[in-house]
Amino acid sequence: MSFDLVFFGGTGDLTWRKLMPALFQAFRHGKLPPGGRILAVARDERSDDEYRAYIRARFAGVEEAKQPTDDEYARFAELLHYRRMDLSQPEHYAGLKRWTDERQAATVVLFLATSPHLFPVICEQLGRAGLNGSNVRVVLEKPLGHDLASAREINRIVRAAFAESQALRIDHYLGKSAVQNLMALRFGNALFEPLWRRESIANIQITLAEGLGVGTRGDTYDRTGALRDMIQNHALQLLTMIAMEPPSSSDADAIRDEKLKVLKSLKAFTPETVARDVVRGQYRAGALNGQAVPGYLDEVKVPPDSRCETFVALRTEVQNWRWAGVPFYLRTGKRLAARDAQIVVNFRDVPHPIFPGTHCANKLVIKLQPEDGLELHLLAAKGGSNDERLTPVSLDLDFDKAFPSQRVGAYERLLLDALAGRLNLFVRSDEQERAWAWVMPILEAWSVDPAGPRPYAAGSWGPAAASALVARDGCAWAEEA
Ligand code: BG6
Repeated sequence: MSFDLVFFGGTGDLTWRKLMPALFQAFRHGKLPPGGRILAVARDERSDDEYRAYIRARFAGVEEAKQPTDDEYARFAELLHYRRMDLSQPEHYAGLKRWTDERQAATVVLFLATSPHLFPVICEQLGRAGLNGSNVRVVLEKPLGHDLASAREINRIVRAAFAESQALRIDHYLGKSAVQNLMALRFGNALFEPLWRRESIANIQITLAEGLGVGTRGDTYDRTGALRDMIQNHALQLLTMIAMEPPSSSDADAIRDEKLKVLKSLKAFTPETVARDVVRGQYRAGALNGQAVPGYLDEVKVPPDSRCETFVALRTEVQNWRWAGVPFYLRTGKRLAARDAQIVVNFRDVPHPIFPGTHCANKLVIKLQPEDGLELHLLAAKGGSNDERLTPVSLDLDFDKAFPSQRVGAYERLLLDALAGRLNLFVRSDEQERAWAWVMPILEAWSVDPAGPRPYAAGSWGPAAASALVARDGCAWAEEA
């Protein structure tokens, strides 16, 4: 299957930091379909060879195991091309169209790795230039909108040029191996389905914790905040994967229809429930791994009086027969105690305990980061002991060890899916708009709340109010349990 893969924003951060290394891994693993061309498009004048050298130099910043040898890079570089484009000039799109027409590749994937404010102009111009034929797909990176109205506007413009099945919205969390494993666990095994419901599950916790602060992204982050940056997309997408009904097939729309139903079933927030069930925080100076780190307000390009949240914890419910009354807790934050992304499914206690200490005994932990695996926590009797007390043990599946040579990074998987036209892991516009609709009452309540975010020390697990939020239901976050 021949392909042309075009990166708008070809010299930008996303392209050299994530996309080129991911493509190179796919190339190295022999997964990139043969007969492909990769074209980077950007503002400056450069030759193909200058661009190849530019990307080569940037590979130095990639983790060592993923760096190409000179020989490997020479072969990979043959695929790379460069083209100068002024994104406001219709004739430049006409030139790009001629470039793709030269070869009539089976598939043309246009990846918009630019600043999102350029998406409307690029999509409009692509449509006008006729770069929207049935063999063309356009890939859109987040952030897709700042609120519901702006997300709808972007979708309206995209839809004017492309059919829904041609527009691939990336949520890179869906590309993580753990999400594949979650689908396999739930729908490839009969074991868990009978337990996957309110009768057996006490609560579900999704934690996306980062040790890093905002780094040099202070200005853009300050206009975004943790709710828009992580909850509206990544955390909600994981929630849909956990809570969805078994789809009728593995088709993209069968899966996305079920995810949409979950988003529609989420309990809507009111100003009162935002005050009770949502905690926002902002990090202050603290220490991480023994190193002092500054507070958010002292980060570069952050306004000194910023009210931007760097932490969110919230409680919600999925209002349907399967999940009625089961709390779903979502939590994310920067400068937390560890880089740790996981989903914890806490099962109910035994109905009639005959052993002491059986509270919260069983949980399934789906680990996304730093390593990728599954842990099933059980209680067992320690052999030879007369103690009545049972001992926690866990069945531990470390996928990195189980399938050492087959691990695929999130962007590698998503790029290969985009080339192959597999849409399962891309977000449909109705899902995305529904997710925005759900976070809007939180944004609105915060905008009129004089209190602002609660401070927390860098290196902690966030404001104490986040623990109180789960303690109210008699629960605790995984690290406190
Ligand atoms: C991005 C956010 O979507 O995800 C960043 O914009 C965040 O703020 C990043 O750091 C986290 O991704 P990962 O894969 O490193 O957990």
